[in-house]
Amino acid sequence: MHERCRSAGIVGLGTYVPERVLTNFDLEKMVETSDAWIRERTGIRERRIAAPDEATSDLATAAARAALADAGIAADEVDLVIVATATPDMLFPATACIVQEKLDARRAGAFDVLAGCSGFIYALACGAQFISSGAMDTVLVVGAETLSRILNWEDRNTCVLFGDGAGAVVLRPVPREKGILATLLGADGSGGALLQLPAGGSRLPASHRTVEEKLHYVQMNGREVFKFAVRVMGDAALEVAREAGLEPGEIDLFIPHQANVRIIDAAARRLGLPMDKVVINVDRYGNTSSASVPLALADALNAGRIRAGDNIVMVAFGAGLTWAAAAVRW
Ligand code: ACO
Repeated sequence: MHERCRSAGIVGLGTYVPERVLTNFDLEKMVETSDAWIRERTGIRERRIAAPDEATSDLATAAARAALADAGIAADEVDLVIVATATPDMLFPATACIVQEKLDARRAGAFDVLAGCSGFIYALACGAQFISSGAMDTVLVVGAETLSRILNWEDRNTCVLFGDGAGAVVLRPVPREKGILATLLGADGSGGALLQLPAGGSRLPASHRTVEEKLHYVQMNGREVFKFAVRVMGDAALEVAREAGLEPGEIDLFIPHQANVRIIDAAARRLGLPMDKVVINVDRYGNTSSASVPLALADALNAGRIRAGDNIVMVAFGAGLTWAAAAVRW
């Protein structure tokens, strides 16, 4: 275990999900699918969809405001805003800068993190470093997505899986025995083509052709991503627990990225954890990418499933390919 200079902990948590609910039954009317197929193969029943005038920064700002209120911290006390997203408002400026302005967090630096669905844990690890090193005292970490904007709503292989939402945490120094005990970040760029949005960047700038060929939408090889996810979720969770000095039996709560209930089951089995120690809310939100882990954390907290001193392991995988895990003592 590495020696930590100062411990960074979560002192405030907030979420926001759009009002509109899109059920599997609604999707049955849009593509050739069924509620039964989606539930059995993924565990998803419904997901939230952002309103036409809502962009990622709007969701992020609402979650951030709730997290600051929960922590009892004013926006001008924030030193840094990190937004994890794969669906920024635009290519630049960074969504974090838009959020910083909306919050009026005038003292804060701001940048985005792009690590697919692992983004929130990547951003959490990053924010924790600024606090551990003593460089900063208050870091706002947000995971926010409007995946509905980059889905091909005629492609049943992808459009049934994702949803919109945001979650935010405030990080501050906490007593040494608490907070973020260990983090782990991983990547395998050789798998990048398994999950990508090909056009709109410098490789393939937007053109009539890219629009006609639907290259501005998510493309995914679901089967290969599934195999990758089952392998890395369990491995990363075990490794971060070991790094934090925890035996698998000492994990009180497991918060996996909410992509597919079958992937979550496989990871929990690998850790030998009973399902009452596993948080699942993919049924209500689908895969919200960077927002998924903080939304699940908030659900667990609101349900009274987290007590002071509990050991929590969070783990995610995503486009990149990436994976990330964090062990936290509440
Ligand atoms: N409704 C009905 N049938 C469908 C649907 C649908 N919505 N989607 C696919 N099918 C069909 C397929 O066409 C296929 O038919 P075929 O055999 O005639 O070709 C059949 O169902 C089975 O397809 P599989 O791909 O084998 O289905 P599988 O059980 O693997 O489930 C799924 C597919 C849900 C996509 C799964 O592979 C999965 O969850 N993969 C991981 C995806 C994921 O987590 N992505 C997010 C990564 S995180 C990030 O960074 C965004």
